[in-house]
Amino acid sequence: MLEPHIAPPACVTEDAFAALMEITRRPPVVFVEGRGSWLTDQEGKKYLDFIQGWAVNCLGHCPTAIVSAIKSQAEQLLNCSPAYYNAPMIRLAELIARYSGLHRTFFTNSGAEAIEGAIKLARKWGQIHRGGAYEIVTMHHGFHGRTLAAMSASGKAQWEHLFEPKVRGFRKVRLNDIEQVERAITANTVAVMLEPIQGEAGVFVASDAFLRDLRALTKRHGILLILDEIQTGIGRTGTLFGFQHAGVEPDVMVLAKGLGGGIPLGALVAHKDACCFAYGDQGGTFNGNAFATAVGCAVLEEIAKPGFLAGVAEAGAHLAKRLTELSQQYQCGEVRGRGLLLALNLQSEIGPQVVGLALQRGLLINAPRTDTLRFMPALTVTRQEIDRMIAILGEVLKEFSIATECGFGRRPAETIPQLLRIHAEIAALP
Ligand SMILES: Cc1ncc(COP(=O)(O)O)c(C=O)c1O
Repeated sequence: MLEPHIAPPACVTEDAFAALMEITRRPPVVFVEGRGSWLTDQEGKKYLDFIQGWAVNCLGHCPTAIVSAIKSQAEQLLNCSPAYYNAPMIRLAELIARYSGLHRTFFTNSGAEAIEGAIKLARKWGQIHRGGAYEIVTMHHGFHGRTLAAMSASGKAQWEHLFEPKVRGFRKVRLNDIEQVERAITANTVAVMLEPIQGEAGVFVASDAFLRDLRALTKRHGILLILDEIQTGIGRTGTLFGFQHAGVEPDVMVLAKGLGGGIPLGALVAHKDACCFAYGDQGGTFNGNAFATAVGCAVLEEIAKPGFLAGVAEAGAHLAKRLTELSQQYQCGEVRGRGLLLALNLQSEIGPQVVGLALQRGLLINAPRTDTLRFMPALTVTRQEIDRMIAILGEVLKEFSIATECGFGRRPAETIPQLLRIHAEIAALP
């Protein structure tokens, strides 16, 4: 269904959307072009993009490095089947090994597929090294994707009774509670799996101390530590991988999103001692195709350039500072996260309405919870673009603070924009 308060562009009728399966509530905006931090819709209206495909377009929209890699690889070789080596596949695996300290990679087409691979690898490892143990300890509110096993591993409350029966073998504990993790480990446990920052849950950071304790605990129990770096990896937090803040090294790491910079590419990366797939255990038609892995090489080469990650940390610090100022001005709550994966607690369930008003004003932001906004701009975002985002968000929050002053704040949040319009009409009366 269309959002009632946003009219569809003149050339797009509601019927035009009917051939798409509705899997989410989309606003009636059709994007046709992207450059850096900016998107353009079919009407020519520009939007400042602080979602970037959900932290995917790490170099922004259509960056030269990726466009050139796509063009030259497309003219050379797209796909020769995963049954054969190709040059970009070998090069990207070598780059990931060099930068992560882990040894071997299996390429996938999405994050969830890489998570499935990690679960399978852990179960196989449990069969070989731990008497058939298969259980994986994961975190409440964690998010690992939308395949059945990835959903079962996730700790998203809304999914608890969805698509039953779930895949068995996941035991959930609280993030940052090492005692609870220890209590959950049994002879049947094969691994602990978590995100360094729970992005979808609303940007909750696994503390460095927790990650270090987990590393020691998993070593002591002889089980694997699996880190889901799908959202935090590839420079998002100001280091190439999220775990580098804590100075730990996982046995298995899962990548996607930023690795392809906007094209579908994921990776299951493991220490050589954890690699135990036999021929036929793992595979897939498109895995490691030359086209996608050539783009992955271009992304990693950009991010590894001197000064790039320092620039991400600097931009992240600026964004956090400006969000904190905004929060003080409009009595919002804490600013959480790391690098360019940040959240602002709104202290009120107005997230979806703020997102809607921001869209009308040409800003894309996301509300992973009704009381929280999440910011995941391109890693190349400029200070000026951050300041512009803050200015637009400030205007939106101002509208909501006017609503609160007028007593609208006690109403259901979805009625606020409508009440604001009435308020403005009354104010404009002679
Ligand atoms: C931490 C994390 N894990 C897994 C996934 C699933 O990745 P994909 O959507 O590519 O399957 C996501 C996607 O948002 C994610 O943020």
